[in-house]
Amino acid sequence: MGATGEARALPRLAGKTAIITGIASGQGRSAALLFAREGAHVVGCDLDLDQAEQTVADIRAGGFTADDAVCVDLADEIQVAQWAAGVERQHGSVDILYTNAAATRFAALEEISYADWQWNFRNEVDVVFLPVRAFWSLLAASGRAAVVLVGSTAGVTGSVTAGRLAHTATKGSVVAMTKQLAAEGAPRGIRVNCISPGMIRTPASESNLLAADHPMHRIAEHIPLGRIGSPDDVAPCALFLASDEASYVTGVNLMVDGGWSAVLPG
Ligand SMILES: NC(=O)c1ccc[n+]([C@@H]2O[C@H](COP(=O)([O-])OP(=O)(O)OC[C@H]3O[C@@H](n4cnc5c(N)ncnc54)[C@H](O)[C@@H]3O)[C@@H](O)[C@H]2O)c1
Repeated sequence: MGATGEARALPRLAGKTAIITGIASGQGRSAALLFAREGAHVVGCDLDLDQAEQTVADIRAGGFTADDAVCVDLADEIQVAQWAAGVERQHGSVDILYTNAAATRFAALEEISYADWQWNFRNEVDVVFLPVRAFWSLLAASGRAAVVLVGSTAGVTGSVTAGRLAHTATKGSVVAMTKQLAAEGAPRGIRVNCISPGMIRTPASESNLLAADHPMHRIAEHIPLGRIGSPDDVAPCALFLASDEASYVTGVNLMVDGGWSAVLPG
């Protein structure tokens, strides 16, 4: 009860253990801080251990809980398996898996090498497949688990300003994986949904599509809500899908893009 006697609602992820990949920066860091504030015990990894540790320190400084951050290359089968085994020893089961981490290389068909095509699949699809497979039995052990994948507007649209054939193929794969994983997860008590961000200001987009010399730099003019998104626009949507509030939602791809993919320019 609060000071005035009213009943206080529990935080939205109270008692849940949440795996979040890529907590060092951008949307993963924002989600880690929000999920922890909402009562989840956060278990995060990144390639950038220093910044991931900073996220964990910030969670703890707020009075919330998280495991020590670990350095895992999510495209490496053995590293992911070792991470999952450690989490199983520590926690036994997992309630939430948010496969946020990814990295991409943009190029049009006429420019992309086969090596870069394969690099994109490794760093945008393998980084989803490997943790989902590794944590699947721990999620099933929860009895009421949620997986949130990360697609993109790039996975459901083409672009005249950004050559991004491999990125479109990989993010389209993630959106498609959502449907199949929803089917395979349902009998195990695992819901699987996808967040598809539009243009979000993060270290990744600032060094690429939002750079001053990139043709997409003024893209906000074509986004119906009139602005580039922020990681804090995305994290609450992932929170909803990860929470029991979405207990009847599975197989959905939620566009978080200010209407960009829904409305034609002009
Ligand atoms: N920023 C955007 O405009 C945008 C738009 C659509 C989709 N997305 C997607 O959102 C997600 C988060 O992107 P962001 O913009 O916050 O990027 P970001 O680069 O700021 O953060 C991604 C984090 O993931 C980590 N990471 C990447 N590959 C990894 C690997 N193999 N193993 C472990 N950690 C790894 C990075 O070190 C980084 O800390 C990605 O899936 C991205 O494709 C981003």
